Order: sequence, then structure tokens, then C-alpha cells
Amino acid sequence: MATGLVGCVGPIVGKIGEFLMAPIGRHFSYLFSYKSKVKNLKEEVEKLDEKRGAMQLSVDEAKRNGKVIGPDVKGWLGRVDKCSEEAREILNDEVKENRGCLYRWCPNLLLRYSLGKKATKKAKEVAKLHEERKMTEVAYNEPPPGIESTSTEGIKVFESRKLIMNGVMEALKDDRFDMIAICGMGGVGKTTMVKEVAKRAREEKLFDEVVMAVVSQSPNEMKIQGEIGDKLGLKFEKETKLGRADQLRERLRGTERILVILDDVWKRLELNDIGIPFGDGHRGCKILLTSRFDHVCNDMNAQRKFTVEVLTKEEAWNLFEEMAGISNDTSHTSTDLYMTQKKVADECGCLPIAIVTVARALKDKGRHSWNSALL
Ligand SMILES: Nc1ncnc2c1ncn2[C@@H]1O[C@H](COP(=O)(O)OP(=O)(O)OP(=O)(O)O)[C@@H](O)[C@H]1O
Ligand SMILES: [Mg+2]
Repeated sequence: MATGLVGCVGPIVGKIGEFLMAPIGRHFSYLFSYKSKVKNLKEEVEKLDEKRGAMQLSVDEAKRNGKVIGPDVKGWLGRVDKCSEEAREILNDEVKENRGCLYRWCPNLLLRYSLGKKATKKAKEVAKLHEERKMTEVAYNEPPPGIESTSTEGIKVFESRKLIMNGVMEALKDDRFDMIAICGMGGVGKTTMVKEVAKRAREEKLFDEVVMAVVSQSPNEMKIQGEIGDKLGLKFEKETKLGRADQLRERLRGTERILVILDDVWKRLELNDIGIPFGDGHRGCKILLTSRFDHVCNDMNAQRKFTVEVLTKEEAWNLFEEMAGISNDTSHTSTDLYMTQKKVADECGCLPIAIVTVARALKDKGRHSWNSALL
């Protein structure tokens, strides 16, 4: 018994110096109220677990609705998991100490002191996490893709287009123009050009937002509204075209400088019916449209019109060479195959769509296929 007591007292003797240096009450409370401290920790951890569960449900729901989980929420969940695990270790140690006490003559005072101290510290951390939870937003809407989702990869800068591109960029900067058109035959590169214009306008920060919708031969106004709305992150609450038009108009008016690109217009579009305000309706809204038809650009009252022509012969060959993977080293340029390839390229009439389609189809093909292409 005596030896047992010495064994118990021994470990806390080393702590006496510490007791003398720091407020004695706190240290004694670690030792003698360790049970209530551990109990408090246990309750705090249970409450935190409940909050974590509720938060996880909100996160799952937000994910199902396609929302983005806030970084603070992710961080909080991670910190809660770590803190809960550490708290559980303290609680397990306490269980072990109690069990051990049944077999020992006296309790391990140093262990109790340490448990009381750790439980107090951990309970403070848990309480801090409770507080943090109150401040966090669970999820946010996915950022609208805008025009950034439109890839401009693989677009070549042709000298013959540079002048037009620069003209369009100048017109976009000019307050006198709010309806600008690019016209040219099918496959000449109008869509490709407006994608590049959109990219430059964004880089040069000419507008707060740049959106694009494809109109096509048989325009569906609801689809156009949807395309523009998606790019602005706008969720339509109305079902009818007119209801959606009101909502879209409000949204566009709320943006000081906005560029709306309407690609592939085949006939006059009633922008008001779609909900695109321009002119006196919203001075900061500019329309850039593309059309195969000159008269459509006029019908849309375009104040500036740019016509894209086919490529020059040299540009056409460069594009063809690249698309067909033709090597231009001198040992190859004198062969019959090379001559045939040149003739096939000529047949494409310097029209980008024809060049790209034919060159891709013949890429890596043998002589026979190239000859057949000329028949
Ligand atoms: N600058 C360019 N660099 C690389 N490829 C180009 C370029 N311009 C056009 N092309 C190629 O030509 C194809 C047709 O171009 P685009 O779709 O822009 O023509 P379009 O004038 O809009 O035709 P449509 O009137 O049918 O809408 C593109 O898919 C692309 O492969
Ligand atoms: Mg097009």
C-alpha cells in the first residue's frame, strides 16, 4: 500500500514547480475536476458531430443541385474531422484510466492531470469550431461560363483577316455603333472570327460581360434566351417567352457594358421579343451579329458591316498543309504526291471549311486516296 502511494505521488512531484509558477487553481482543477472536464468535452464533441452531420446533408443537397461547395465549408469539415478524432483519443484514454484504476491501488494522478488539461484545451477548440460553423455559407452557384467556355484553340491568325478583326475591335470601342455585323459566305470563318473577337474584347476588358448565342436558320427564341441566360448564370423563373424576355432584359440592363454576339442570323430577329435591350433601351449593350447574307445585316440595321472573303492562296495552302500534316521539307516538295496535294488544295477554293474538311479526311492517307480526291 505504502509503495503504491509513493508510486502515485511521485509523478506529480515534478509538477510542483509548474504549480508554483502558474496559477495554482487551474492546475488543481485539471487534476481534481478532470472528470467534469472530460464530460464537458464529450458533450461538446457530440454536439459538433450533430452539426457536422447537418452540414454534410446540406453539402450533399447542394452537390445534387450542381452548386459549388465553399472552400470555407470544406476546410471546416476537415478541421472538424481532425478535431473530433483527437478528442476521441482523449476520451478513450479516460476510459482506459478508469478501467486501470480498478486494478491499481490508486489512480494515476499524472494521467488524470494530463487528461484534464488536454480535455480543457480540446473543448476550447471544439467550441471555436461551433462558432465558425455559424459564419459559413454552404454553397455557391457555379460561376457562369460566359464566353470563356468557347475555345479558340487552333484558330490561325490570317493576315487577310487582321484588318477586319481590327476594324471590328475599333467599332466595338466606338460609342456611335451598337449594331455591328460580320457577313460572308458559309464556311468562310465568321464564327471563328467572332470567337476570337470575344476573346480579345474580354482580354481588353471592353465589356463587363460577353455572351454569345447561335441563332441558326430556324431560330428558337426560347433557346436563344436560354443560351444567353446560361452564360450569365441567370435562372429563368418564368415559363413563357415574354416572361423570360422581361427577366433577361432586366438582367442585361443591370450590366453596364455588355456585348451580345448573335451568330448565324438568317433573317431579321426581333431582339425585343427575346429580351435583348439595345439603343435607347440600354446604351451599354452592343450587338455583334454574323450572317451569310448581306441583306440580313441591313435588315438588322447594322451601322458597321464587315465582309469576310475567302483566304489568299498562300493562307489557304498553309492551312491545308497544317491540317493534312504535309511536310514542307524540300525533299518532299518535288514529288508527284506533293503536286497532287497542291492540286487538291486548289480545288478547295480557298474556303476554310472546304480546306479543313478535305485536308483532315486525307491526312496520313496514301497516294491512291489523294489521286482519287482529284477524280
Ligand atoms: N482562322 C482560322 N483558323 C483555323 N481554322 C479556321 C479559321 N477560320 C475558319 N477555320 C475553319 O473553317 C471552319 C469553318 O469556319 P466557321 O465555322 O467560322 O465558318 P462560318 O463562316 O461561321 O460558316 P457558317 O456560315 O456555315 O456558319 C471552322 O470549323 C474551322 O475549322
Ligand atoms: Mg458560323
